[in-house]
Amino acid sequence: MSRRELQLSDDDLTPVDTLTSPSPTRIAETLRTGRCPPDRAFDSFLPEDLRAASAEYWTPLAVALQAARWLDEFGVQRVVDIGAGPGKFCVAAALASRCELVGLEHRPRLVAVARTLARQFGVKDRACFQQGSLGACLPAAGAYYLYNPFAENLFGPGNTLADDVEFSCDRFALDIHRVQNAFRQAPRGTVVITYNGFGGCMPASYESVRVDRQLPCVLRMWRKTEVGDDGTFSLVDAD
Ligand SMILES: C[S@@+](CC[C@H](N)C(=O)[O-])C[C@H]1O[C@@H](n2cnc3c(N)ncnc32)[C@H](O)[C@@H]1O
Repeated sequence: MSRRELQLSDDDLTPVDTLTSPSPTRIAETLRTGRCPPDRAFDSFLPEDLRAASAEYWTPLAVALQAARWLDEFGVQRVVDIGAGPGKFCVAAALASRCELVGLEHRPRLVAVARTLARQFGVKDRACFQQGSLGACLPAAGAYYLYNPFAENLFGPGNTLADDVEFSCDRFALDIHRVQNAFRQAPRGTVVITYNGFGGCMPASYESVRVDRQLPCVLRMWRKTEVGDDGTFSLVDAD
């Protein structure tokens, strides 16, 4: 089935759905069967300011569905979303795959929203959230997902999602360095999925194994194919 056939529009909703909003149950069922509800319907369960930020900051559902297909195809069991926001990717991917999702997020308010969202969509057992900043190590997982999480450091004062955390070019460089090191130390077979890149280059021990260029930004899946890591970088764009 093509993506166009899988993407539901408002016209696909029943009259009841268009009069009210589709329920979390209906959205969840749609995602579980690999079809894509309108982002607007899913986003209606976010607080108003986060709904308004969705197009710029949160993963579109079509992207989460494609990532979920790849994760199941590669038999991944546990995925960490580095910079999970209000949990849109984790919740949608938990519904559309067999994986357990862990969201790491430094903004306490977003963690609280993400936990509520996971409860509303009935996946609180497979989508959980940890409040904290990226440290020197990453939680253990078979896969990591990054939607360009550190870019906000470069947006400048007044242009970020909210002024509740400190951003800087130094922090950007440190965060990129930390994930690259963690990826270098990860076991062979580790999967990394980037949407719109992650701001740095992938270590050369990772191979690009899937790419989708039909989405608003490039979605790419990498897999660690070398046992060791010689400190060099992949020549493939981490777009
Ligand atoms: C572009 S949003 C992506 C959100 C989510 N992954 C999604 O796809 O819907 C990036 C998120 O990363 C968070 N973030 C940025 N730097 C972080 C860090 N160093 N540690 C934890 N979270 C971070 C931001 O607060 C923001 O919510």
